[in-house]
Amino acid sequence: MTMKIGKETGIYPGQVELKAADFDRVRSLIDRYCGINLHEGKQALVRARLMKRIRKLGISSFGEYLDYVENDESGEEFLSFVDVLTTNKTSFFRESQHFDFIRQKVIPQLGGRQVKWWSAGCSTGEEPATLAITLLEAFGDSHTDPVRILATDISGEALTKAKAGVYTRSNLAGVPDSVRKRYFREIDGADEYKLADTIQKKITYGRLNLLKQWPMKGPFQLIMCRNVMIYFKRPTQQQIVSRFYDLLEPGGYLFLGHSENLPDKGIGLTSLQPAVYQK
Ligand SMILES: C[S@@+](CC[C@H](N)C(=O)[O-])C[C@H]1O[C@@H](n2cnc3c(N)ncnc32)[C@H](O)[C@@H]1O
Repeated sequence: MTMKIGKETGIYPGQVELKAADFDRVRSLIDRYCGINLHEGKQALVRARLMKRIRKLGISSFGEYLDYVENDESGEEFLSFVDVLTTNKTSFFRESQHFDFIRQKVIPQLGGRQVKWWSAGCSTGEEPATLAITLLEAFGDSHTDPVRILATDISGEALTKAKAGVYTRSNLAGVPDSVRKRYFREIDGADEYKLADTIQKKITYGRLNLLKQWPMKGPFQLIMCRNVMIYFKRPTQQQIVSRFYDLLEPGGYLFLGHSENLPDKGIGLTSLQPAVYQK
């Protein structure tokens, strides 16, 4: 890292070019590590996102930045590289039919059993929080319900937000007023809301790359992996779904995003309704 951007050199962010060879390097790195398949049309997006890092580090070219990512022995920059390239878009009660299904079909089957649920690719925490809210709404505050929720993501930045549990008013757009009043506390003067401890206590957060080893043991009664594998290549999707299958209990449920299909019909999962499958 020798050259700097700005007055000192006359190099400004708008002038840093993402060459085709740089883009290919980015694609190959992110594919190998996260399984994400960045196609040609994503060049402008990749450039805009990586500019944040280039600006912060004061590096003058993408080639130099990618050398830095690959040679940084601490691995820190690689994690930042992944953080800026992954899409963390999410919301409370997203694809709300899934939570209706859980309320109507999954929760009534619980009985007194202890079970585990997993939000795989939980982003900034709205999805596992919605799972916990759905449970507490069904069991009532007084009852200790028998479910523990594991929430994992590859992005450390997203997980930090999830653990903090602080959301803006617009983040809460899909949350009914009655639910907001019960499970969120308005932070004075900040126009932000803090998720209740009763919800946070049900959730364990952890960093996990779905492409690597999974340290946790099943069985899970429910796994949600929505809008995560959408950019993965088909064989990668197939491998991950079959690993989910192995971790599900018999009769357990897998939820994908509504725009995602199960990669292989022969895998032993039955389709119940859009993007809901049962082992
Ligand atoms: C669009 S968000 C989806 C969040 C939530 N599941 C939902 O549907 O609202 C996708 C998430 O997948 C995570 N992700 C991408 N690649 C991953 C990988 N290889 N392992 C684990 N998480 C990954 C991203 O960091 C991001 O937070």
